[in-house]
This record gives sequence, C-alpha cells and structure tokens, in this order.
Amino acid sequence: MEPDVCQLVELLGVLWYPEETSAVIGGPDRGMSCRNVLLTGCSSGIGLALAVRLAKDELKRFRVIATMRNLDKREALEKQAGPALDKTLEIRQMDVTSEESIRRCVEGIPQRRVDVLVNNAGLGMIGPVESQSVAAMKNLFDTNFFGLVRLVREVFPDMKRRRRGHIVVMSSVLGLQGLIFNDIYSASKFAAEGFCESLALQALKFGVNISLIEPGPVVTEFERKLYEEAACMDLSAVDQETLDIFQGFYMAYSKEVFTVLGQSPDEVAEHTAKVILAEKPPFRYQTNSLYTPMTTLKHADPTGNLPLNAFHQMIFQHDRLFKASLSLLKMLQWRKRRDVSYNKSP
Ligand SMILES: NC(=O)c1ccc[n+]([C@@H]2O[C@H](COP(=O)([O-])OP(=O)(O)OC[C@H]3O[C@@H](n4cnc5c(N)ncnc54)[C@H](OP(=O)(O)O)[C@@H]3O)[C@@H](O)[C@H]2O)c1
Repeated sequence: MEPDVCQLVELLGVLWYPEETSAVIGGPDRGMSCRNVLLTGCSSGIGLALAVRLAKDELKRFRVIATMRNLDKREALEKQAGPALDKTLEIRQMDVTSEESIRRCVEGIPQRRVDVLVNNAGLGMIGPVESQSVAAMKNLFDTNFFGLVRLVREVFPDMKRRRRGHIVVMSSVLGLQGLIFNDIYSASKFAAEGFCESLALQALKFGVNISLIEPGPVVTEFERKLYEEAACMDLSAVDQETLDIFQGFYMAYSKEVFTVLGQSPDEVAEHTAKVILAEKPPFRYQTNSLYTPMTTLKHADPTGNLPLNAFHQMIFQHDRLFKASLSLLKMLQWRKRRDVSYNKSP
C-alpha cells in the first residue's frame, strides 16, 4: 500500500531527526509531522464541514479521523472529502454514548495519538419543559455532556503524558446565556462549559489546551431535526398561555433568527480551524459577532438581572422592535453577503 502524505511527512521528520525517531512518530510536533485530529459527529453539519476543511488543508498539517455513530451515513462526507478520502481523512465509527465504541476507535489510532480532539457530536431540544420526558433529557445529556466526559477520560491521560494536546469543544452561545424554551439544551452546554472551565486549569499545568467554540445559530440538520421534533411534540400538559408563547412567538421567530443570523457550517468550520491552528488557542471563541452583545450583558451585571430583563422586554414588551431589528439585520446581512460575493475573484 502506498504511504499517504502524512506518513511521508513523518518519514522526512525521521530522516531529519534520526536520534529522535520515536519522538517524531507519535511524539511532539516539530511543525513537520501531521497532527492527528479526532472528530465526532461527522455525518452532517459542522462536524462534516470541519473534517473536510482540515483534511483539505493546503499545507497538509492534519490527519483527520472523522467519526460518526452510523456509518451508513458516510456518503455525504466521502463525497465532500473527494481525493482526501483515505489519504488525509479516514472515517471510523464512534457513538459518544458508548465507552466501548470510543475505546475501540482510539485504540485503532497508531499509538493512540490524538493531538486534537474535537468534541462536536450533539443533540438539540426545544419546547416547554413540561412537554419533554425525563428519558429524552437524559438522552440529550448522555450525548452533549457525558459524551464529552467519556471522550476526555479516554484521551486526556495520553495528552498529559505527552505534555501536549488540544481539546476543542463545540459549545454554543447558549452555553453562556440561557434562552426561552431551550432550557435542557442550554443546561447541557452550561454543563460542558463548567466541566471545561474546571478541567482547563489542570490541562494548562500539563501543556494541554482546551477551547470552547460558541456559535450562534448554524444552518444544519440540527435545525431541521428540532422543527421535526417540535411538530410531533406532545403538548397536552402545557397551559394555553405558554403554548401561545411557544407556538405564536418562539417558533415563528426562531425560524426567522436562523434565516437572518444563521451561519453556514463552513463558516463555523473556518473559525474552528483558526482556533486549532492558533499558537495560543483561546479558551472561549464566539463565531458570530452579532451575539457578542447578548453575552456581554451577562458579564456587565453580576446579579443577572440585566440580561434577564433585557430578554423579557425584548420578547414580551417590545416584540415589534425585536421584529424590526431582525428585518434591519436581515438587510445588513444581505448587503454584507452581496459585497463579499462581488469582491470574490472570479
Ligand atoms: N446548528 C446550530 O444552530 C448549533 C449552534 C451552536 C452549537 N451547535 C452545536 O454544534 C454541534 C454540531 O451540530 P450541527 O449543527 O452540525 O448539527 P447536526 O448536523 O445535527 O450534527 C450533529 C452530529 O452529531 C451526531 N451525533 C448525535 N448523537 C451522537 C452520538 N451519540 N454519537 C456520535 N455522534 C452523534 C449526529 O449523528 P447522526 O447523523 O447519526 O444523528 C451528527 O453527525 C452540536 O454539538 C451542537 O450542539 C449547533
């Protein structure tokens, strides 16, 4: 079998540093060897876009191990990976709710060397809390929070031993600021943020970086799945007033917000690639600057009343103003995209 590009680069490293052969293969990155990137949830959306972005890196700095829980969904990734498939990108099975599946995948990586872990797999959930079953909430936490914990338990000890590594976690702006009818999803991202904030202190001591990527809305399968689930939700236990707010306000505006403010998975992948490539990776990184004011409010008032009142007024007292602001943003976004496409070289 022909060696792939990453193997060749590593081989060159061996020739240049013969006395440190073992350190080059599976050892510290001298800027020559490829970084092994283990990515979860690559069947669609951000995971797929990031896997492709890194695998097609012009400088061939990455070997991507793109995982998904159901390999029957691999076609979209295979198509987009194109010639990178089985060279700088390989596809493996991994379900983040199964320790055995995670271990099997990591054991299959030469010397278990994961230089960058991207914890991306995630589920969404919207709706009044009384309409959701505790079983569904536990399932969401099992993926969004315990999936992250399981992965970290598997790769962090190796990273500490090697005294290097980068754990990148796909969080959300909802991991910083709660939003109406996103109670459980937001809680799972807050949990991930708290876990990472605590772990980052220990990680720093061992030369391991942790980065939380915090996108706003991103137009992916995630949104479609949410609306599909909302359409068949059992709302019989919900009072009429709450129902009116959920269906009349939240659902209507949510779609609008995704259309107006939503980023593409490619945009989020590009931001994430920058964080992975940064010499000093940031601990927190928001991909959508339009959301910075929302999260800034929180830090401006330790009582928490400022963001709470701002959201309350926006939703229940000034919904017309909210709608007008969205229309204005829509126009600005449209103009921005138009200018970008005009400035693109043919
Ligand atoms: N879209 C947004 O608006 C948005 C905003 C902020 C943050 N995020 C976060 O970004 C991440 C990616 O979401 P996305 O927008 O790209 O949505 P997506 O297209 O639905 O992708 C989610 C991925 O996670 C996978 N997944 C779910 N459960 C899994 C499990 N137990 N084991 C392994 N993989 C599993 C899905 O696999 P299947 O195809 O098998 O279901 C899919 O590949 C999530 O963590 C999400 O919370 C999304």
